[in-house]
Amino acid sequence: MATSKPVAVEAARLTNDLEPYWMPFTANRQFKAQPRLLVGAKGLHYTTADGRRILDGTAGLWCCNAGHGHPKIVAAIQRQAAEMDYAPAFQMGHPKAFELAARVAALLSGDLDHVFFTNSGSEAVDTALKIALAYHRAKGDATRTRLIGRERGYHGVGFGGMSVGGIANNRKFFGPLLSGVDHLPHTHLPEKNAFSRGEPAHGAHLAEELERIVALHDASTIAAVIVEPVACSTGVLVPPKGYLKRLREICSKHGILLILDEVITGFGRLGTSFAAEYFDVLPDLITTAKGLTSGAVPMGAVIARKGIYDAFMTGPEHAIELFHGYTMSSTCATSASSPRSSSSRSPGSRPSAPSTPSCAPMTRGCWCAPPATSSRCRRR
Ligand SMILES: Cc1ncc(COP(=O)(O)O)c(C=O)c1O
Repeated sequence: MATSKPVAVEAARLTNDLEPYWMPFTANRQFKAQPRLLVGAKGLHYTTADGRRILDGTAGLWCCNAGHGHPKIVAAIQRQAAEMDYAPAFQMGHPKAFELAARVAALLSGDLDHVFFTNSGSEAVDTALKIALAYHRAKGDATRTRLIGRERGYHGVGFGGMSVGGIANNRKFFGPLLSGVDHLPHTHLPEKNAFSRGEPAHGAHLAEELERIVALHDASTIAAVIVEPVACSTGVLVPPKGYLKRLREICSKHGILLILDEVITGFGRLGTSFAAEYFDVLPDLITTAKGLTSGAVPMGAVIARKGIYDAFMTGPEHAIELFHGYTMSSTCATSASSPRSSSSRSPGSRPSAPSTPSCAPMTRGCWCAPPATSSRCRRR
């Protein structure tokens, strides 16, 4: 009979073996030769495996908007796991998913009032692209299939997000991607804007490139334009003054949906609930994730304007209107209990800034403190 190693020795070997885990977006061999392991997190800090306390200057991957280990979030997760770990989201529901959707919608102005839950930003992006395509088809505009992204854009790693994204390394290894995609030019103009603070003065004219793309393909073939209001993955690229408003105008003129990818900029990152508020631009769809649960539970969402939702609600009432969803759509709606207060604003009014965010500063303010250290919170 083979002699097995003592259980404790085997367990130690397994937990010290870095090999089986194929790490995402990481130089695996380099990391495994010199690992940087984080073993704890509280407020603004991580604890490393060798016991050092280090400042989390990026809020995880731009996702821990309420700081690490917020007691209300911890309690909500514990409570929910005990009360109900899972409920199917197809043809069934649970009250907290509805509550969370209402609370997310209440953070937005205009008629952005319907919320579709996903597990991640990538899924939110692919969901929004599918909604855009299906919306036009539902309206009898089935030729609108083209999707427009932007150079230097990051929209996650699904095939839709990769296709509209504009970062070569995220695209070049994976074949031809979606067909019928075009890209706007990026807005990084260091020769003009190198020393600008906040929204750069130059570059609004780059939105006019959408007119060129429309002239090339014809508006009747274009379903949607997707951009990050502030692009983040190749450096923080704040939009030039007037750029987003001009994109909105051109989209509206040609019946093209405007999707703002707010996976990073949502949930207080710019001081308003969403960047759409900050830049005073009303998109047709918003994609979000990350700060929705402060990174504590995988969750994303697409927020749609009422007219988009309504366009699907036309056939027989027993028929499924959108053939799309995830096993984990709306898992347990933990962030319904997140520290952000729910808004009771009237329709059309601007939502207030979130109550206890702790994000890295971007265009304007810094509000970087976990609730326990709020005396260090100040605006720049
Ligand atoms: C703008 C944007 N969209 C989509 C994503 C993808 O989100 P996820 O990594 O949750 O799939 C990210 C992730 O950083 C992002 O920044």
